[in-house]
Amino acid sequence: MRVGILTGGGDCPGLNAVIRAVVTKGERQYGDEVVGFRNGWAGVMEGDVMPLSAERCRDILPLGGTILGTSRANPYATEGGPEAVRATLEREAIDGLVAVGGDDTLGVAGKLAAEGASVIGVPKTIDNDLGVTEVTFGFHTAVQTATEAIDRLRTTAESHHRVMVVEVMGRHAGWIATYAGIAGGATEILIPEEPFSMSDLCERLLAHHNRDVSASIVVVAEGARPQGGEVITQTDQRDAFGHVRLGGISRVVADEIEARTGFETRLTVLGHVQRGGTPTAFDRVLATRFGIAAIDAIHDGRWGQATVLQSNEINLAPLTDLTGTAKLVDRDLFETVAGALVSLPG
Ligand code: F6P
Repeated sequence: MRVGILTGGGDCPGLNAVIRAVVTKGERQYGDEVVGFRNGWAGVMEGDVMPLSAERCRDILPLGGTILGTSRANPYATEGGPEAVRATLEREAIDGLVAVGGDDTLGVAGKLAAEGASVIGVPKTIDNDLGVTEVTFGFHTAVQTATEAIDRLRTTAESHHRVMVVEVMGRHAGWIATYAGIAGGATEILIPEEPFSMSDLCERLLAHHNRDVSASIVVVAEGARPQGGEVITQTDQRDAFGHVRLGGISRVVADEIEARTGFETRLTVLGHVQRGGTPTAFDRVLATRFGIAAIDAIHDGRWGQATVLQSNEINLAPLTDLTGTAKLVDRDLFETVAGALVSLPG
């Protein structure tokens, strides 16, 4: 078969591991010819093709980012986009396409599949907010990076007896904030799912942050907002999928904490540091398993399906079940585990 693969949306550690698995198993076990489309759906619309081979993919397993490049291009927001996609797939004689992406990229894949295209999806996002799959690759690496940052911030916070506000990614769901917050022993975790009360937050910090406890760490997801408030955006501009660029809630939170408590407060926005760098072993394994399952699904003609992790098994689920609604943070995890430990000295 002639197989195409693309990576779309925000990049994340593990994308190259998926590409390597698809290409290597496709070539060696199925005798496939695999080509990559550059820069997500943009490359498919433009017919921007890159030949791939097991040899080309030999060293890419530990590499962050994606050798194919990515973009937030949306064929359904582009004049003649879906037609251009179909024309390229026909011209390139693609028998099956693997689309690796998050909600937006897989949303496009689902629509194309519903219109008859031979597409299989592989879910990715550091935000871990896709439905059906228990976890997406990239998330584990992002949490590890954020946790290491919190550990570092804690030592300097302790030296100066400061409150440290750490802003992490997570526009609709606070998975990174929750996991990194628990792993890093945060004092407070603020997530999009739970609009917070600034006065309650400051009261808890006043009770927590004293001479015995010399530092407080507040982890805040970029999509978190105070009760009755709005999310903080960097710009009003929207991307091709209608998303605004979030960022800046840590400044609001840090300023309020300092003003209301008198504690010296600093902030750190982790930003794209969380998305860069080499994937953890967990993400390499999950991404590889997804890639293997995707090329198998191509050969089984399971169009319109996506690879998912369920009870540590790789299964297939309809693309449309993964997209559209963000998978929110598990309430039990947030309330029982994080809730039992935040704002307690220790
Ligand atoms: O990949 C998802 C995500 O990490 C969001 O958490 C974040 O809001 C967004 O990407 C940032 O994207 P960009 O790279 O376009 O700034």
